[in-house]
Amino acid sequence: MQKLVERINNLKKEKKAVILAHCYQPVEIDLVADYVGDSLYLSQVAAETDAEIIVFAGVSFMAQTAKILSPTKKVLLPQKDAGCEMADMINYKQVLEFKAKHPDIPVVCYVNSTAEVKSECDLCCTSSNAVQVVKSLKAEKILFLPDQHLGKWVEKQLGNLEVITYPGCCPIHEQISPEEIANIRAKYPDSLVLVHPECEMSVSLMADYVGSTAGIMNFVKNSDNKSFVIVTEKGVVDRLERDYPEKEFIPIRDNLVCPSMKMTTLEDILNVLENETNEIVVEKEIAIKAVKCIDRMLEASK
Ligand code: 13P
Ligand code: SF4
Repeated sequence: MQKLVERINNLKKEKKAVILAHCYQPVEIDLVADYVGDSLYLSQVAAETDAEIIVFAGVSFMAQTAKILSPTKKVLLPQKDAGCEMADMINYKQVLEFKAKHPDIPVVCYVNSTAEVKSECDLCCTSSNAVQVVKSLKAEKILFLPDQHLGKWVEKQLGNLEVITYPGCCPIHEQISPEEIANIRAKYPDSLVLVHPECEMSVSLMADYVGSTAGIMNFVKNSDNKSFVIVTEKGVVDRLERDYPEKEFIPIRDNLVCPSMKMTTLEDILNVLENETNEIVVEKEIAIKAVKCIDRMLEASK
């Protein structure tokens, strides 16, 4: 593995490339990654980098967002089939239908959506800034897509806003039930329960903290507690165990993984860097429209 890491690091220098990795990636990807984080952090990095090539170790909507924000850079996705099941739950035609059914209401899209879908939305958000950016709209009613659970979580946090949600979800986070939380709490009464907002509301309501991937990792960093139940993808648990060996992390399930996120290997990264394959292309007209809602998000989350 050391040889592989060295070859990737040499190629990165040679080609002025940067590697961005989402926290759900296999943990060994961090050996070559320049930046590791959640969707918001990685999109901020993509918007600001002066590298010539961005290798995005993540899923396709993340690489597309990087391309939209940095159109002159070459963006490479190590595994071209790494998609997001939630993003695939709404296409261009369906967003138009959703808007036609509820006319004249601002449309907020979760960043977990395709460029085509974003091009029809007013504002984008990630799980870490959703409440803040939706608040900046000062609207009484919004449409939110594709994640119904994050949309309803935002509505609950803001209180004075009606959120009409599209019926999409993350099939990984949606598996978790309130009964599982109750059982694990009974088993580990001293643990704090940290939940990603893609879980159902009944699960989020039982949490000690609800937040994005980075939010959960920051919570652990700043907490004096010694034990935590982690209610999100396994990549977060793997990184927390690596970074805080003195603390205890209990995954809500043994193997709660996003299969697409786990497709990437170090060999794939070497391959795309060497051959500059799997380049992300976003149609110019779509990108011009989509960048508006992403820029608006970045501005509102400063
Ligand atoms: P974050 O916003 O926490 O990075 O989440 C992205 C994601 O796909 C979670 O399933
Ligand atoms: Fe998409 Fe869910 Fe995987 Fe995140 S965990 S990338 S929302 S399928």
